[in-house]
Amino acid sequence: MAIQEDNLLKNVISHAKEYGFIFPSSEIYDGLSAVYDYGQNGAELKNNIKEYWWKFMTLLHDNIVGIDAAIFMHPTTWKASGHVDAFNDPMVDNRDSKKRYRADVLVEDAIAKLEEKIHKEVEKAAKRFGASFDREMFLATNPRVLEYTQKIDETNARLKAAMGASDMGAMKKLLDDLEIADPISGTKNWTEVRQFNLMFSTEMGSLAEDTNKIYLRPETAQGIFVNFLNVQKTGRMKIPFGIAQIGKAFRNEIVARQFIFRMREFEQMEMQFFVKPGDEMTWYEFWKDNRMKWHKALGLGDENYRYHNHLNLAHYANAACDIQFDFPMGFKELEGIHSRTDFDLKSHEKYSGKKLQYFDSEENQSYIPYVVETSVGLDRMFLSILSKSYTEEKLPDGSERVVLRIPVPLAPVKVAILPLVKKDGLPEKAMDIMNDLKFDLRCFYEEKDAIGKRYRRQDAIGTPYCVTVDHQTLSDNTVTIRDRDTMRQERVNINEIRPQLIAACSINNILRKIEQ
Ligand code: GAP
Repeated sequence: MAIQEDNLLKNVISHAKEYGFIFPSSEIYDGLSAVYDYGQNGAELKNNIKEYWWKFMTLLHDNIVGIDAAIFMHPTTWKASGHVDAFNDPMVDNRDSKKRYRADVLVEDAIAKLEEKIHKEVEKAAKRFGASFDREMFLATNPRVLEYTQKIDETNARLKAAMGASDMGAMKKLLDDLEIADPISGTKNWTEVRQFNLMFSTEMGSLAEDTNKIYLRPETAQGIFVNFLNVQKTGRMKIPFGIAQIGKAFRNEIVARQFIFRMREFEQMEMQFFVKPGDEMTWYEFWKDNRMKWHKALGLGDENYRYHNHLNLAHYANAACDIQFDFPMGFKELEGIHSRTDFDLKSHEKYSGKKLQYFDSEENQSYIPYVVETSVGLDRMFLSILSKSYTEEKLPDGSERVVLRIPVPLAPVKVAILPLVKKDGLPEKAMDIMNDLKFDLRCFYEEKDAIGKRYRRQDAIGTPYCVTVDHQTLSDNTVTIRDRDTMRQERVNINEIRPQLIAACSINNILRKIEQ
């Protein structure tokens, strides 16, 4: 059943809460803005996504190792990384709606509207000219399209210049010149644009005179940079090599919305790949391709992913792109791939006074490596999987079901064990099966309610297999295995359940699909 896109996000949010995937943080106190807790099924799905990423990075790439650095880091880290001075977003308030916005996002939205206008002109012309329509020619010659394109180019250039120079006056002028109105109040009654640093700070030390301002890390990457030589030396790593890490990051986002898409506390899965200076563009292309393959192997639909090149580069990058995903609110950033040059290591060398160089025995010289980074938000991965798996279905008998078609190896519960009735020795037989399977697969035992109701509950949390024990089981040692997606049931001997389900649920089924 097709679901309207704006309804889809609402449905996913309420489903996630009803079935123990995601709860608002400290809900009994009315929640905390843009902070969420993962429930019993959410925590399992999240762990499975982490396993998929960790195994891909550290098992399938023999030159990548993983670490787990602390969230708290020496405060100079953030001076060196540029986050104290440059990790800002331009913030603006509308005096009438009293709402706060990111000025650069308002400008980007205005650009997206112009792009939409071009798209509409193209569609209209394609209809009018039919088979003879030449898209490239139309884009290059149609006066209205040319006018929009020129405006887009000019706006992008002004945005880039204003952001690059941290010129908030120029940002305000851009809002005024584009006549951008607040989507809520409809007015253009804006305050001045101000820079807002996104890092959370706290104090370390129990005595007042010992207090020291420290930050909650806004990215996990710096924990990798400061450990670069520790890992390289102790692991005897040879360039090119990578260091991977999964962990929490914190950002005081100005506008935090769209559920777990933009949170103030979130998790990142990052990998820094250290390369010889000059080789970074080759590796940048390699990782763009490699990461896209990882995403597509999940089977959520290739058409749901695309690249988006950054026009406004972060302070550390010489090339950057996003892998965008078609979320319920449209195509948005899922993962960033950045060529970070030698910015971070060089800066840490300067601020710490410690050499962070690699001796290349083949070249017989020392140098600061260049870095290509892949950085994917775990919570955004979660939202991409949850929203694309969420399906409302009308069944042939007229009834309806909500099923989460989560990729089988990532499903929170792999097998539900269900005795048909709560008597005649069926529960005991079912428990025997559960006790055998639980060493290898996350199982869920349930004997309450009619079997149809129990199947629906498992569909709703995405359990790929239901094993049902019935009276025939007692006579011929067989059970039925019901498939979540097809709802077909197959009768198998009890001895075959374990090998069959272990094979079907293995994460290797996805990993092996990714060509290296
Ligand atoms: N180390 C580079 C870095 O942090 P980023 O593009 O700012 O780059 C990387 O973040 C990824 O982290 C994003 O693609 C996104 O998936 C995730 N992410 C960033 N901010 C987030 C937020 N506020 N809430 C949830 N995920 C976020």
